[in-house]
Amino acid sequence: MSTKIKMLKEIKNKELINNVLNSLQIIDSRDKLEAFEIVITSLATLMKSIGLSSISDLIKLIDFTPISSLKNLSQREISELEELVMLKIKTITHEDILKIQYKVSTLMDPIQRKKLAAYYTKPIGIKIMKKLVDSYIKTQDQPLTLADPFLGSGLTLSETIKELPISLIDKVWGVEPYPLSALVAYSAITYSLKGKYEKVRIIVGDIFKIAYKNLQLFVEPMHEILPKADVILTNPPFTRWEILSKDYRDFLTKFINLLGYSKFVEKRQQNLQLISLFLIDYFLKKEGLLISVLPASTFYTLYGEAAKALLKEKYQLHMLLELSSEASFSTDSGFKELIVVASKRNTNFDAAFITIDANEIDQLDILSSIVKGEKPIKEYINWVNVFQIPYPWNMNWLALFGQNSLRELISEIFTKAKGILDTWQNVFSEKIIIRGVEIYGPDFFFIPNKYWKIVNEDAKGLLIESNNGLKLLINREFLVPTLRKPELYVDTIIPKIEHYFISIPPKDLSELPHDLVEYIKWGQLHSTAKPAIKAFGRYWYSHVYKQINVKKPFGHVFLPDKIDPSFAKRGIFACYSEYPLVASKDFYIVTFNDVLKDKALTLWFNSSLFIAYFIVGSRKISERWSRFLEEDYLRMPVINVNILDKDALIKLVRSFDRMSKIKLEPVILQLNKDYRFEMDKTLLEIIGIEDSEILQKLYSLLKSALLQKNNSSK
Ligand SMILES: C[S@@+](CC[C@H](N)C(=O)[O-])C[C@H]1O[C@@H](n2cnc3c(N)ncnc32)[C@H](O)[C@@H]1O
Repeated sequence: MSTKIKMLKEIKNKELINNVLNSLQIIDSRDKLEAFEIVITSLATLMKSIGLSSISDLIKLIDFTPISSLKNLSQREISELEELVMLKIKTITHEDILKIQYKVSTLMDPIQRKKLAAYYTKPIGIKIMKKLVDSYIKTQDQPLTLADPFLGSGLTLSETIKELPISLIDKVWGVEPYPLSALVAYSAITYSLKGKYEKVRIIVGDIFKIAYKNLQLFVEPMHEILPKADVILTNPPFTRWEILSKDYRDFLTKFINLLGYSKFVEKRQQNLQLISLFLIDYFLKKEGLLISVLPASTFYTLYGEAAKALLKEKYQLHMLLELSSEASFSTDSGFKELIVVASKRNTNFDAAFITIDANEIDQLDILSSIVKGEKPIKEYINWVNVFQIPYPWNMNWLALFGQNSLRELISEIFTKAKGILDTWQNVFSEKIIIRGVEIYGPDFFFIPNKYWKIVNEDAKGLLIESNNGLKLLINREFLVPTLRKPELYVDTIIPKIEHYFISIPPKDLSELPHDLVEYIKWGQLHSTAKPAIKAFGRYWYSHVYKQINVKKPFGHVFLPDKIDPSFAKRGIFACYSEYPLVASKDFYIVTFNDVLKDKALTLWFNSSLFIAYFIVGSRKISERWSRFLEEDYLRMPVINVNILDKDALIKLVRSFDRMSKIKLEPVILQLNKDYRFEMDKTLLEIIGIEDSEILQKLYSLLKSALLQKNNSSK
C-alpha cells in the first residue's frame, strides 16, 4: 500500500472524502479513497503548474465546473483539502499524473464504464498521435486549436502537446461527461501547457447536446460554445446503439439530420461511432487534421459505408493504421481497432494502409513523412487509391492491409469474371438467405444434448434416455431434423444429420402427449430451459416452433456463420442437403430451393476461389474465428446460376455430385487431388477463366495462406 493511501486512511474525517466527492458529483466510484487520491493528485498538478498555493484562489481563478463546485465545501474542509494538496505538491512527478489518467476509468462503476465506453487510448496510440501532431504543427503559421470531443482523462491532448512550444497552441478543448475524468484531464492538459489555464476549455457534459445547442443558437463563430478545431485527436465511444435509450437515439438522429449528414446514412444504419464521426467533422476546420481511433468494423460493415463515404467525399485519407501485435488501440478492449489519419480537404491521393509494429521506432518516423506528402515504399505499407479499390475489397477495407498476392489474384479473377460472378442482389430477385433458428437453451431444444441421448429411432419418433436413466418417447411431429453447428460437418458436403429440434406448438400442457410433458417439466426443473423461460414466459417451450413456422428456414445450401480460417480440420465450407432442412443460427440458409442451381451454388461456396476469398476478405473475430455475415453475402460476388445455360449447370452439378461422395481431407491436402482440381477447373472455365496457369497460381498462393493461418492459430 502506498504511503499516500496510508496517510489518507489515517484521515479521521471520512466526511471530507465524502463531501469532496459529492461536490464533484462522483457518486458511484468503486473505491472512494482512490478516487479521493486522484482528486488530490489532480489539484496538486493543477496548482503546481499554475503556481498557486490556495484552493480558494484556484476556485476564483478557474472557470471549470468541478473546481467551482468545491465552493460547496466548508472553510474547514477547504483548509484540510489544501493541506493534503500542498503535501502532495512536494513529491509530485509527471508519472503521477499519467498514472491517474489511466487509473481513473478503472474506478468507474463497470456498467457506467461500459455505457460511456471509457476505454482510454493505449500508450502506442498516443505515441502515434504525438508523432504526427509534432510534425504537423510545426508546418503551420498560426497557433492552433486542438480538441478531443470525447476527452476521457485527456490523454490524447495532454501527451501530444507536452513537448510543443506553447506559442504554437491557441486553445485546447474537450468534453467529458464523467466529472473525475474531466478534472484529471483539466489538470493534465494545464500541466502540459506549463500552467497556461487560459488556453484550456473543458466542459463536463455531453458533446452531442453541446453541439446541438451550438447549432440552435445560430451564433457567430466568436460566440460559439466551443470553437472549431484545427486538430482533433480522439477515440469516440463505441457504445452499442441498442443500449442507448430511445429518446437519446431519437435525439441523435435529429441531430445528424440538423447537421445535414443524413445523406451519408442509408436505410437507417445508425451507430454511435458514425454519429461521432459526423460530430468530429462538424467541429473540424477546413484543412484541419483528424486522428482518431475507430473500431475496425467501421471499415467492413454496412453502417461503415457512410463513414467511408464521408472520408472519401470530404477528406484526404493519409493512412489507416493497424497494430501487428494486438487488436485494439484502447485499454481493456479486445475489439479490433484502427487509427485513421486524414486532412479535411478534398484531394485524390493514395492512402497508406499500414501495419505497425509497436517496437519498431523507425516506423513512427515514416508516419510523419506520409502526412507531409511523401510516399515511402515498405513491406508493411500498402498504397491504395480509395476511389478505385479493386472489386470486391471495397466492402472490407481490412483486406487491404499488407502486400498480398492472393488478394491481387482474386481481384484479377473476379474482374475477369464480372457478369457471371455478380452480387447476390443482382443474381436473385429476393433475399433468399436467412439466419438459422435461434435457440434459448440448446440443452433442451436440441436432441441429443448434454443430458439426453437417442437410444432408438423409428417411424413413430425417438426414444431418448436421460443421464439418470429416464426414458421418454418423443413423437415425430415434435421433431425437426436440423444442422447443429459447423464443427460437426467438416468432411462431407452432404452431412449426416444426427440432431433434431424439439418443436412444440404453443398449446397447454394438458393438450400435449404425456412423455413430451415430462420432458418439458424436466426442462423447467433444470437450468437448461431458464433462458427460454426468462425470455418467453408461459409458452417458452414453443419459441423454436414459432421461428420455424414464421421464418420457414428450409433450404438445401448451408453457409457456416463462423469457422476457423486455417481450414486445419475442415475440408468443406458449405453443406448441402438433398431434402429441405433447417439449421441453427450458426448457419445461413439459402432458401432458393432449386435442385440444380442449389448444387451449383454449393459448389461455388466450396471452390478454392471462394475459400481463398473467405481467407482474405472475411471478418476476423479472433485468431481462430472468421466469418461472413448476411450483409456480406448480399454484397459479395456469387456465381450467377440464373444466367448459366443448361450445359454449364449440368457440368457443375456433375462435378458437385462427384465431390459430394468423397470424404474430404482438410483443404490444404486437397489442393493436389484430382477431384478438387477437376471441380475448380470446371468452375473457372464456366466463369470465363481458361488459363490453366491461373489455377496453379491460385493453388500455390492458397496453400501459403493456409499454412500461414495454420501457424498463426497455433
Ligand atoms: C474510448 S474513450 C476515449 C477517451 C480519450 N479520448 C482517450 O483517447 O483516452 C471515450 C470517452 O468518451 C466519453 N463519452 C462518452 N459519451 C460521450 C458524450 N456523449 N460526450 C462526450 N464524451 C463522451 C467517455 O466518457 C470516454 O471517456
